[in-house]
Amino acid sequence: MSNQVDSQSSTYIHGSSPEEQRRLSLLNDLLNLKCLKELNPDAGSRILDVGCGLGQFSRAVSHAVGTDGFVMGVERDEQQFKQAGDLASERGERELVEFRLGDALELPLSDAEWGTFDLAYCRFLLEHLSDPIIAVSQMAKAVRPGGRIFLVDDDHDYFHPWPEPENFQPLWQAYVRSYEHLGNDPYIGRQLVVLLQQAGLTSVQNSSIFFGGCAGNDSFQSVAGNLVSALAGAKETIFSSGLLDQATYERGMKGLKVWTERPDSALWYSICCAEGVVSATNARI
Ligand SMILES: C[S@@+](CC[C@H](N)C(=O)[O-])C[C@H]1O[C@@H](n2cnc3c(N)ncnc32)[C@H](O)[C@@H]1O
Repeated sequence: MSNQVDSQSSTYIHGSSPEEQRRLSLLNDLLNLKCLKELNPDAGSRILDVGCGLGQFSRAVSHAVGTDGFVMGVERDEQQFKQAGDLASERGERELVEFRLGDALELPLSDAEWGTFDLAYCRFLLEHLSDPIIAVSQMAKAVRPGGRIFLVDDDHDYFHPWPEPENFQPLWQAYVRSYEHLGNDPYIGRQLVVLLQQAGLTSVQNSSIFFGGCAGNDSFQSVAGNLVSALAGAKETIFSSGLLDQATYERGMKGLKVWTERPDSALWYSICCAEGVVSATNARI
């Protein structure tokens, strides 16, 4: 499936092809434990995962809250939604999470469900929305007074592969600009606290999750592979936006691949997290 365009909620740059689903699945394997530690969900709580993708993290969260808890995952893309259900069934975990097809900008909740969740979170969603504040406000409305909102997202400025891969900068800049070209914010990570404040949340805190590594680490080839796959998946968008010609793109990808084989390569990258509490006054706005 090509990148999904929706007039109301913008374009998802990575799409949902089988190759992209493999990349996303591997990214979950690499990050879920670290994210779960930051999210720190309470046993028995009701949780909403917005833009849940393949639902692997939703299932990890469901295991953490236990059988007295409840996890709902909302996903807009039909392919991702179907794959989330299929993956859960393959693992014998179909009952763990209620997957619901719907848009983060207009959450598919019934009247009785608004304001009933203890925690709503999204990971790597807001960077793909042209109106992220609407999604955060919807999450705030879904959560009860005193409940939490947890946001996890990229800031492409906090990304430093070193030594600098040859011919990489033009490719990286084109990738970052392709987000802007789609009307989205490649630097959303630094905005997370602003978004929580704008949505009326209190007790806001921030933190980060390391998603780098270096040659010699067990996970480094997987982390670097995720980067290569993300750039390969964005190729169509980069070209159709006229941001780079093919030769420059290929030179950048070659430089990156050579860099992944160096004995001294290191990726310095952290993912941004921010959390706020829903007050009685901003619930159900
Ligand atoms: C990078 S993936 C992250 C998936 C998942 N949160 C994770 O961390 O593994 C972003 C997901 O958000 C979904 N998405 C994009 N725009 C959306 C929207 N407006 N409403 C709901 N889901 C959306 C995409 O289809 C994709 O599955």
